[in-house]
Amino acid sequence: MTAPDATVEYLGADYFGDPYSVHERLRAERPVAAVIMPGGTPSWLVTGYAEARAALTDPRLRKMPPGWRPDPASIFGLLEMHMLNSDRPDHERLRKLVNKAFTARRVEQLRPRITSITAGLLDDMSTRREVDLLASFAFPLPVTVICELLGVPVADRDDFRAWSATIVSNTASPGAYQADATAMIRYFISLLAAKRRDPADDLLSARDEEDKLSENELVSMAFLLLVAGHETTVNLIGNGMLALLLNPGELARLRADPSLLASAVEELLRYVNPVNNATYRFAAEPLEIGGARIGTGEVVLVALSGANRDPSRYPDPDLLDLSRDSAGHLAFGHGSHYCLGAPLARLEAEIAFGGLLERFGSMTLAVPPDALRWRPSTLIHGLEALPVRLAP
Ligand code: HEM
Repeated sequence: MTAPDATVEYLGADYFGDPYSVHERLRAERPVAAVIMPGGTPSWLVTGYAEARAALTDPRLRKMPPGWRPDPASIFGLLEMHMLNSDRPDHERLRKLVNKAFTARRVEQLRPRITSITAGLLDDMSTRREVDLLASFAFPLPVTVICELLGVPVADRDDFRAWSATIVSNTASPGAYQADATAMIRYFISLLAAKRRDPADDLLSARDEEDKLSENELVSMAFLLLVAGHETTVNLIGNGMLALLLNPGELARLRADPSLLASAVEELLRYVNPVNNATYRFAAEPLEIGGARIGTGEVVLVALSGANRDPSRYPDPDLLDLSRDSAGHLAFGHGSHYCLGAPLARLEAEIAFGGLLERFGSMTLAVPPDALRWRPSTLIHGLEALPVRLAP
């Protein structure tokens, strides 16, 4: 890194649970700061709102490191060939194939099915006084939806959960990463081969007329969609419910006025940031953002949760206010890689929060807040478990 060593900050494991105070401190000093992430990657961390938006649309910041191409012969190459790791023109080609399936209009057609999956999970929970809201609800809901859309057997979800958790973790050993990534890729290779032999009415069976995606790219796409479907909405529901439980005034407001639901989901996205940092971007040439001089090939991480709590954009940013205008939040990213699944995530969250509040007149934390554990990931901001007590 070109920053003098004295200004490089080492982020420790406490960053996983509370990225906010680190971002607040860094932003006040310099909105683009040289850091060593937990796990050891030297990065430029962008915590200011204006700088984050600029970085996410800066054509000099690219998803592929300069001079590097994924090697399709290696498992890791296969993990890297999806749209979220691609730049123009590959990015457009890869995104186009699935874009249509995720528009707000298409996703709205899933409302009855999402409502029925939600009702089934709520029924199961109603028989118990205390549950882990993540395992019983926040995880199975989006995972069942994405599995059904893709045509992946829901019965295999515990395997995916374990593989996916290793892949996004900053603390998994290289051996564990290799083993779980390999298992997931092998699974998709055989699933896609089966769908080619015997196509069904699902996304992984779909091919565009010109078959613009190679088999490798399809495997990579399936991997991306399944991980995105596993690691994100679960944390919007989990972190969001925790935020409401810790802010009983706002929870009561939402119970009293369900018409607040759509704006509540937006404010929760801004406030709880299921994706803490956007994925890696690499400088294709020397550039300057927010006063930082970034060298070719250096890593830039946009702290979405930092931008979403920048007081120059959102006054009193650490306050959860369900009726605030949270428009412009960066929870789904910004620019060409803006989340493909945003309409689906919004719909799932609206149905999930609405269902939980309607079914359970009382929900309280079953452990003290400081006993909650956060997952060891700089990408994802999510709990290990959320034990709650329920009453009708
Ligand atoms: C609350 C839930 C979600 C959040 C907060 C979220 C957040 C994000 C963010 C921040 C990005 C951009 C990352 C970057 O620029 O580095 C992204 C991209 C993406 N998301 Fe989501 N996501 C959510 C749900 C989903 C779901 C349910 C899907 C499933 C279809 C999905 C699929 C994708 C895909 C495919 C991309 C890559 C888009 C591209 O590269 O053009 N996301 N998401």
